[in-house]
Amino acid sequence: MPIEWNGDSREFHLRNDRISYVGRVLENRWLGHLYFGPALAGGRTYAHLVPGDFYGFSNRLGEPIPLECPISGSGDYRPPALVVEGADGSTILDLGYRSHRLIPGKPSLPGLPSTYVEFGGEAESLEIVLADSIVGLEVRLLYTIYRDRPVVVRSVALANTGQGPLIVRCAMSASLDLPDAAWQLITLSGEWARERHVERRDLRPGRQSVSSLRGISGPQHNPFVALARASTTEDAGEAVGAALVYSGNFLAEAEVEPFGTARLRMGINPEGFAWLLEPGATFHAPEAVLAWSSEGLDGLSEAYHSLFRERLARGSWRDRPRPILLNSWEATYFDFDEARLAAIAESARDLGMEMFVLDDGWFGHRDDDTTSLGDWQVDRRKLPGGLEALARSVESMGLRFGLWIEPEMVSRRSNLFGEHPDWAVGVPARPRTESRNQYVLDMARPEVVDYLFETLSAVLGSAPISYVKWDMNRAVTEAHSATLPAWRQGEFFQRYVLGLYSLYERLTKAFPGILFESCASGGGRFDPGMLAYAPQAWTSDDTDAVERLAIQWGTSLAYPPSSMAAHVSAVPNHQVGRITPLATRAAVAFFGVLGYELDPTKLSESERAEVADQVAFYKRWRELLQFGRFHRLCGPFDGDGNETAWMTVASDRRAAIVGHYEVLSRPNPGPRRIRLRGLDPGTLYRVSVWPDAADMAGAGPARQAIGGDELMNAGLVIGSARRDAPAGDFRARLFVLEAD
Ligand code: DGJ
Repeated sequence: MPIEWNGDSREFHLRNDRISYVGRVLENRWLGHLYFGPALAGGRTYAHLVPGDFYGFSNRLGEPIPLECPISGSGDYRPPALVVEGADGSTILDLGYRSHRLIPGKPSLPGLPSTYVEFGGEAESLEIVLADSIVGLEVRLLYTIYRDRPVVVRSVALANTGQGPLIVRCAMSASLDLPDAAWQLITLSGEWARERHVERRDLRPGRQSVSSLRGISGPQHNPFVALARASTTEDAGEAVGAALVYSGNFLAEAEVEPFGTARLRMGINPEGFAWLLEPGATFHAPEAVLAWSSEGLDGLSEAYHSLFRERLARGSWRDRPRPILLNSWEATYFDFDEARLAAIAESARDLGMEMFVLDDGWFGHRDDDTTSLGDWQVDRRKLPGGLEALARSVESMGLRFGLWIEPEMVSRRSNLFGEHPDWAVGVPARPRTESRNQYVLDMARPEVVDYLFETLSAVLGSAPISYVKWDMNRAVTEAHSATLPAWRQGEFFQRYVLGLYSLYERLTKAFPGILFESCASGGGRFDPGMLAYAPQAWTSDDTDAVERLAIQWGTSLAYPPSSMAAHVSAVPNHQVGRITPLATRAAVAFFGVLGYELDPTKLSESERAEVADQVAFYKRWRELLQFGRFHRLCGPFDGDGNETAWMTVASDRRAAIVGHYEVLSRPNPGPRRIRLRGLDPGTLYRVSVWPDAADMAGAGPARQAIGGDELMNAGLVIGSARRDAPAGDFRARLFVLEAD
């Protein structure tokens, strides 16, 4: 099996055919790190990989000895993985190896989302217990390796085995010491409407990090980072990934120290964090997923895509084709009644769509965003027959019905806030900062979570609801919980996230047939933690086709197409005012979970015909587009970013679809060839072009089947625009490859 423990050399070796992760109990019983990378032979020892003759501090643990669970204060001045304060205020620890055990499969983490196994032999776990007897602390490091995946999943639990309370000030889920620092740090960074843009910079001496202190993972930075060599491309070279299965304040940090090694650590953001650990209590940190690729960023992405899709996402919708929906938000905003919604739904149905989603505005007196969050009773002025009448009428049209909610919020103008002002996060006697006219409910309070569970269960049980879009439209300010004692306020953010997870857990269990989609002002909480409850997320409020190339490209570094909700919206686009062709908007949205976010009754006849064609095309290729193996070919962060191409390949490699996009039309560009990936070299593929078959002109011998070897090595010829009829800006084409 994949984990070896060598009692003589005191080494452990997590290995499969693709990767190895090796560590060792050092002479002083601290846990050293030896190696993470491509698979090494089993049955050997590797202690010599780390020079043992470093003369630093008397405990021989000065920099740069690589460690699995570094602490500070004893000669290692790099950023620590653990800071735990004892009764005397000291944070010095001496964490010696105490025991270990091998665990078949993978244990779950109490109250936290985690990756899992479905059948025996799929993975094996190793728990190593380190302890400091003076402080009375037991540190349980958990490592899991899957048989067939290039990932190691790590987490840590801290148990107070002493007599007095401890304060956990920092508990990183993973700390990884790398023997050199010749890496570039890749992060997914941005803001509302431009989430997860790829940033790539050289590691330099000192610390470089991304983080959140907003209570959500946030659109500013994602809890996923990668290290890649300067020469690493999409399809070649080394890359290491780290992703945190968590939805709150996080830190991902790399430090390059003076000897030229690098330490990467990832976990709950220690800033402002302090967890009181009473005697006998245990604190569980979320898990981090480390991945290794020797096949470029493409290989790294595939490791995360398949793990997140197959062993992090859960529930009845995990593997099922996701419905094509019409979302009412940009069609009506707050201005609708039953008749208008019914007309939109009927029109969507006529175009072949499968679900109608009623977004914000259906409850309380919510005619704008100044009121009613928390009052989850249907607004009978707009919907006299309630949700049930609307949902039944939508169902009678042959569509499913979906609903928007924003559970974690309360409007200042709402009955809920009037009744329970202390349920809103804030410091008594200080004003609360409003954002979008709303406050955040204190999810750290179990009674708030109970109330939301009861109230939302009543809503979801009141009508045939197949889908829920769970929104969250502001970050936390004045972080403080009215019921936590002063000395526990440092636990607030973590308790908020645990409350959120428990609400998700209870609702998804109570309504197992509902497809949940997470959302936070667009893609503000698009993280691995959310994927455990909601297998798809609203990728961004920005649905402009050009903007979406960058957003979906960046998102795809870690997240699979089946997790990315992608909608076609009206033009001029509501976020950037750009006018792009309808076909281009669809050709981008196809590489995710397709929806429409417009009023179909306002489309012209020709646009309706086009949308009907798009929906039919997507249905024909849905499984491939949602669950295929995704490859990025060239994109918005390369060169001048004018050209993007990506593709998805069926698991049996008998079909593939390539998307090719040109932002601005360039004069006389000449023919282009793009080398494809992931095909079967021995298969002949017939190539057709969508939406316009005539576009194949100039793309080589039309209709001739082309070998996978040729497509991957010589490339797919992308026909150039005709000089006498230039295609214009924002052009997209799909190339559909089918085995001959
Ligand atoms: C933000 C979301 O991202 C939008 O799609 C929409 O649901 C609005 N909130 C509704 O208030």
